[in-house]
Amino acid sequence: MTEHAQQFVGKCTFETLTRRPVYTDLFVPGEKILHISLVRECDWVVIAPATANIIGKMAAGIGDDLLSTLLLVDLPKVIVTPAMNTGMWENPIVQENLCKLGELGVGLIAPGTGLLACGERGTGRFPETEEFLEALFYLRYSPRNLAGKRILISAGPSREWIDPVRFLSNPATGLMGCALASAARARGAVVTLVAGPLAVRGPGGVTVIPVETALEMEEAMQKEFEPCDGCIMNAAVSDFRPTSSFATKLKKEQYPDFNLSLVPNPDILFGLGQRKRNQVLVGFCAETDNPLTEAKRKLAKKNLDLMVANTVVKGESGFAVSTNKAWIVNRKGESIDCPIMDKVELAGLICDTVASLFPQ
Ligand code: C5P
Repeated sequence: MTEHAQQFVGKCTFETLTRRPVYTDLFVPGEKILHISLVRECDWVVIAPATANIIGKMAAGIGDDLLSTLLLVDLPKVIVTPAMNTGMWENPIVQENLCKLGELGVGLIAPGTGLLACGERGTGRFPETEEFLEALFYLRYSPRNLAGKRILISAGPSREWIDPVRFLSNPATGLMGCALASAARARGAVVTLVAGPLAVRGPGGVTVIPVETALEMEEAMQKEFEPCDGCIMNAAVSDFRPTSSFATKLKKEQYPDFNLSLVPNPDILFGLGQRKRNQVLVGFCAETDNPLTEAKRKLAKKNLDLMVANTVVKGESGFAVSTNKAWIVNRKGESIDCPIMDKVELAGLICDTVASLFPQ
């Protein structure tokens, strides 16, 4: 416990409730050097909650008490669960520190959203216990097979505005794309997420570029593509957008027989496939019929390395459900037939397949 932690709960309370020794001092005379032995004798070092202060100290390599000093010993053993006010969480310095720590192998469990200790609402809340334990389990058992790889992911729907109050879109929530970002992050990747409007909690420790329209998404993906090692285009992009969008709200009385004229949006993934050098490029296709045939055709057409085809079955697979029924198809036409599984689990499987395509 740090000095600050003891301002919240006393050492004695912790010792009594856990029946475990609580260490607070760096300088304890004895046979072992405490800040080394504590780390060497455990599998993981979990800081929960982690303040902006301890994250900043870790990123700067400062050791000025027992906790900050032991954290210097073996960074990849460390998992942090930041908890703080939203303003502090969104502070670019804090995010930059977390990204830096991610690159160095530190695991991250993202904070939740809701009522904060200060009475404000937002992201920065310590996750619910079950969520925390699940995330810990997930991190603990993820291989570090994407360590240091830069992975670009797109998620969510796009929005094509008709006028300031109406848009064309689809039911994508961003759940699959965010699960992919977390899975890649857990595997040691440096992740950039280009996200359409999300209906789910965004992942922590990744750089998020928010976009709305397909054209904005195309611009962001094209910009971020060059330096990445792998790219997973998971967003559900609108294939069309209104030919022109109105600057002011359309009045129905003014247009009794209104017809919407549409133009095709660029196929972002096709464009990336044209530019691809040695990046591993992955597409998704949601199909109601012949998913495997469609996946193979689109993989070839878009010059991909992998195509993930999923069925769209209400309540079971596809949009706005937590599970997916998918096939992962490669360039040779081989496919992994994944049973219906949680999107979090599928994200892990996709990331492991991506990792297997990098030269070992
Ligand atoms: O051809 P289809 O739309 O089924 O292909 C789906 C894949 O292409 C997805 O990976 C999706 O993100 C991407 N896509 C795109 N730009 C579009 C439409 C789809 O990048 N305009």
